[in-house]
Amino acid sequence: MENQPLKIKNKTARIPIVQGGMGVGVSRSSLAGAVARAGGVGIISSAQIGYDEPDFEQDVQGANLRAIEKHVRLAKEQADGGLVGVNIMHALQHYEDHVKAAVRAGADLVVCGAGLPVELPGLVGDADTAIAPIVSSRKAASLLLRMWDKKYGRTADMIVIEGPLAGGHLGFSPEQLERTAEFDFDMEIRGVLEEKRIYEEKYGVSIPVVLGGGISGRAHVRQAMEKGVDGVQVATRFVATEECDASPAYKQAYIEASEEDVVIIKSPVGMPGRAVRNAFIRRAELGKIPVGRCFHCIKKCSPAQIPYCITQALVNAVKGDLENGLIFCGARVGDIREITTVPALIAELMQD
Ligand SMILES: Cc1cc2nc3c(=O)[nH]c(=O)nc-3n(C[C@H](O)[C@H](O)[C@H](O)COP(=O)(O)O)c2cc1C
Repeated sequence: MENQPLKIKNKTARIPIVQGGMGVGVSRSSLAGAVARAGGVGIISSAQIGYDEPDFEQDVQGANLRAIEKHVRLAKEQADGGLVGVNIMHALQHYEDHVKAAVRAGADLVVCGAGLPVELPGLVGDADTAIAPIVSSRKAASLLLRMWDKKYGRTADMIVIEGPLAGGHLGFSPEQLERTAEFDFDMEIRGVLEEKRIYEEKYGVSIPVVLGGGISGRAHVRQAMEKGVDGVQVATRFVATEECDASPAYKQAYIEASEEDVVIIKSPVGMPGRAVRNAFIRRAELGKIPVGRCFHCIKKCSPAQIPYCITQALVNAVKGDLENGLIFCGARVGDIREITTVPALIAELMQD
């Protein structure tokens, strides 16, 4: 059952592993293309994806839109027919334009988290791009699917459930994250599965569900599939691969990190996030890190009030300046011991 292909709308991935989108710059065409080629679903993150374009400083938005199209094209060239999607955070200032750029570039799917992407069906229209929301509760799934049904007469092509052990921004309260052991997340998973069945029946389609957060080995894949989902979303493990787009220093930080080094931070985005407690985080704990310039990345950000600029911190990290960089990671980063390759990692996660 675990080796069943993943069917998303009219497209099929040979292997039911979706690589989670990772911004800034951690999952671009190199990683996503390699995952797609190996049979999984490769996901590019659109968050400040153009950070190394020559005109990024002068025209952030233009550089990002160009880079979305460029990286989808490059990933698809590498993918050998495999599926390539784009992860676009709803909280982004230019969210709508990012979705349209991904569709224009021929992305197989758009995955949206960090907020409820109510307008997503309208932005994608009739294009052959599947749509997949990321939810962390039954309530969010229920609300969104009901709104899409009422407003657009359509439903999701896939649903990603992101659990409390995931990396990056998290859809849980800091209190829930402190008590993950007591928190019955399986109830939320069952709830999302029940919600999606309503719309599967109504639209006569099947809506695959993938579960992510803390999937670090074969046993976790099996446990996830036993909960009745169709696939898994894995992010942290893909960072320590040769193909990952992050700098070697970033990957090394993953190898060196242990469970005790992982902290929950309050991100300027207004959501909690999970990261490696490095020199940068320790400095941020002591007081504000002045914001140099504003990249207008997030809809709800007031540069005068935030503890640091998240774009600057994530760009520094992906380039390898870890002294000044924020290293997002999942709760199980401590399991990583060495750099591997994407095909070897997928084989490890899927082996019988
Ligand atoms: C470095 C890093 C960056 C991430 N960036 C994003 C992002 O830009 N958008 C998003 O929706 N999720 C983001 N995530 C979450 C992942 O896509 C994924 O769902 C989650 O981390 C899965 O858990 P795992 O890392 O334990 O496998 C990020 C995760 C990591 C580790």
